[in-house]
Amino acid sequence: MSFSQEIINWYHPNKRDLPWRHTTDPYIIWLSEIILQQTRVEQGLPYFYRFVEQYPNIATFAAAEEGEILRLWQGLGYYSRARNMHKAAKMVMDNHDGIFPTTYDSLIKLNGIGGYTAAAIASFSANEAKPVLDGNVFRVLSRYFGIEEAINTPKGKKLFYELALEMLDKEQPAIYNQSIMEFGALQCKPQNPDCQICPLRTSCYAKQTNKVNSLPVKIKG
Ligand code: ADE
Repeated sequence: MSFSQEIINWYHPNKRDLPWRHTTDPYIIWLSEIILQQTRVEQGLPYFYRFVEQYPNIATFAAAEEGEILRLWQGLGYYSRARNMHKAAKMVMDNHDGIFPTTYDSLIKLNGIGGYTAAAIASFSANEAKPVLDGNVFRVLSRYFGIEEAINTPKGKKLFYELALEMLDKEQPAIYNQSIMEFGALQCKPQNPDCQICPLRTSCYAKQTNKVNSLPVKIKG
């Protein structure tokens, strides 16, 4: 079975039931992805629920006072995320008739949305075939395929992007992207992953060569 199919098969019985996985509304997915950028899922969940309740759609979010958004954000840190969200919301109202975009090329132009977030929103909301690359994905790919190139150099980023694109299941990008991130978060963990129960162990380069703890490679800077 292919790497991608193995990852998707692992996902279905093992995934967490998270609220943003029950919607294709790009606004709701955007809220979740920005909150989760530097925040753990357990910490982000109560904030996600509060924001959805307070601002159920892009129009209510854009119309809010910035101070009110920042108050609701209190405790999450990195307040530039909240300020960028407010700017992005106004851009959606002004430039997109209040309809939250779902294409990668439109999303990447919004404040606070980089390559990862644009790929996440475009794939989860509209099944656009863009691969997500976050810390989880770097770790899974580097270990499984034995990529020793550093993940934080231009050369490494390009290499991982090309591999991620090649592995992306183009028929089901949303499910595949959720699957590989969840696989990295729950199974292929940074520290002490339980490789004995991993469905990919027999074909995993790192497991077979005892390099699980030395991959991915990251250059200190
Ligand atoms: N972290 C960032 N995006 C996530 C998602 N969609 N599901 C779980 N954790 C995440």
